Amino acid sequence: MCGIIGYSGDKNAVDRVYSGLKRLEYRGYDSWGIACIDEDGLHIAKDVGKIDGIPDELSNTETHLAISHTRWATHGGVSKENAHPHVSCDGSIAVVHNGIIENYDELKTDLEKKGHKFKSDCDTEVIAHLIEEHSKSKGFPEAVRAAAKQLKGSYAMLAINKNANELVGAKKESPLVLGLNGGEYFLASDVPAFLEYTNKTVPIDDGEMVVIGSKPVVKKISTGEEVGKPMDTIKWKLNQAEKGDYTHFTLKEIHEQPLVLKETLRQNKEKLEQVARMVNSAPRVCIVGAGTSRHASLVGRYVIAELTKKYCEVYMASEFQYFVEKLGKDTLIIAVSQSGETADVLLPVKQAKEHGCKVVSIVNVVGSSLDRVSDVSLYLNTGPEIGVAATKTFTSQVTMFYLIAYTMIYQFEAGLKKLMSIPEMIEETISLNEEKTKKIAEYMKKRDDTYFIARGENFAVATEGALKMKELSYIHAEGMPAGELKHGTLALIEEGTPIIAICPKDHTYEETMANVHEAKARGAYVIGISDENSNMFDEWLKIPKIDYIFYPLLANIPCQLLAYYTAVAKGRPVDTPRNLAKSVTVK
Ligand code: AGP
Repeated sequence: MCGIIGYSGDKNAVDRVYSGLKRLEYRGYDSWGIACIDEDGLHIAKDVGKIDGIPDELSNTETHLAISHTRWATHGGVSKENAHPHVSCDGSIAVVHNGIIENYDELKTDLEKKGHKFKSDCDTEVIAHLIEEHSKSKGFPEAVRAAAKQLKGSYAMLAINKNANELVGAKKESPLVLGLNGGEYFLASDVPAFLEYTNKTVPIDDGEMVVIGSKPVVKKISTGEEVGKPMDTIKWKLNQAEKGDYTHFTLKEIHEQPLVLKETLRQNKEKLEQVARMVNSAPRVCIVGAGTSRHASLVGRYVIAELTKKYCEVYMASEFQYFVEKLGKDTLIIAVSQSGETADVLLPVKQAKEHGCKVVSIVNVVGSSLDRVSDVSLYLNTGPEIGVAATKTFTSQVTMFYLIAYTMIYQFEAGLKKLMSIPEMIEETISLNEEKTKKIAEYMKKRDDTYFIARGENFAVATEGALKMKELSYIHAEGMPAGELKHGTLALIEEGTPIIAICPKDHTYEETMANVHEAKARGAYVIGISDENSNMFDEWLKIPKIDYIFYPLLANIPCQLLAYYTAVAKGRPVDTPRNLAKSVTVK
């Protein structure tokens, strides 16, 4: 996954795309690049690493047309040559791209036969040469359209040509959104890229292209026919996309959870009732998500089963494609995704629709690809989540499952009332654990391995806790049902191995504590997350007492804080962990 932003307007285009690139770094940050056009022609600056200031070579350009890119490498290693923009042989056309061109080899061979010389190993470079080839017989936008028609795979791409005064974008299976601010136009992977200038947007759909000359025109790539598109006003506020006084977005987003949860609870009752009817009446319900969104789905499965007695299956999104063909009209899919752009979720969901399945999505990004393919979407309302590690959206996703479950048993109001008390309890959980987790982080930072265990509805909190620890601190971490420990992992426990035991005083307490005993007997250093202390714990992370079904919402908070402070203690780049990207738009 990568981030792209292009600009056409009366302000300095390099300034505009630079600020956009900084806001898109959550999508990838292996390398960066900017291309702009001024009176002297096309200028390019690119390098490996994160962009840090307006590049010297572009600082004096008087430019109103620019494209830019922040990369998360897929095809070709991380190098200056492979960084975007990629340029045509004659140096007139520059292209940035997010996605994967699957027929790259075939296109490259064909273009080389026609005399094109390639300078990189990056699949995107074929697009620049293809546009150049078509420019021999067509004007610039039509050459881009002809090139797009030849591409297989996924793309959101932007192109400029020093001989044309147009910014051209095209999209298939990677996100692209148009932003409008009077005479200023932006084409970007995501709204935060231009939110400081405008919240007026037009989402671009698969198979569409945008030509921005004096004003933007959306067209179908297949026919060139113009498409009328309604404008959306995004409710996100700029301060939601800024760190404020916090050292990291991740910490801000952890602290924001009480506030954010109140927004998640502001749901349209009729829409929830519609979803509840769909879940109640579907013979089979498959919940699909990746990473954190799958962990939230696992909690959701327990909550729905516990409150409604309905059993739902949860699929790891990247494996779901292998089951899709067996599904039909009797299946309801609940697709869970913060970004709504994760390819592992999106592609099988689209296939499932073709097989007649209905799709309900739980998404944060309104207008995202998943939102648009779904029959009904429930929005998390958390505002943008910038930290690559998901925190506040997990809490919101889990909350949405409570709302669905209570609505399924016709107790929407009663459920809402109970959930309204959670934000305050999360606040309390944060203040109970902030200093304590900072202290325990000093122990954690010296360890290489750690294990998170829990049972029942908290089992998924253990897997989510381990994921946070891995991606933020780079410490090896595994999360598992406590009962599984004795089936193999116990062999890895030695003197001082940290075991994070999520064991609130619920129906699973006695059995989880029996597993804690087993680990302790082998030398484990036990960090207990519970509403009650125990002499088994070396450290106690206290959570408030609450109705057992809601423990996952509280127990996850100390896990987030522990991962965060361990990462800080280890000097990790918390908001942008190595090798990761916020939304993964490739398979
Ligand atoms: C979460 O901390 C991870 N960065 C990752 O697992 C993420 O949850 C996953 O890629 C799914 O993203 P989505 O919710 O945007 O679909």
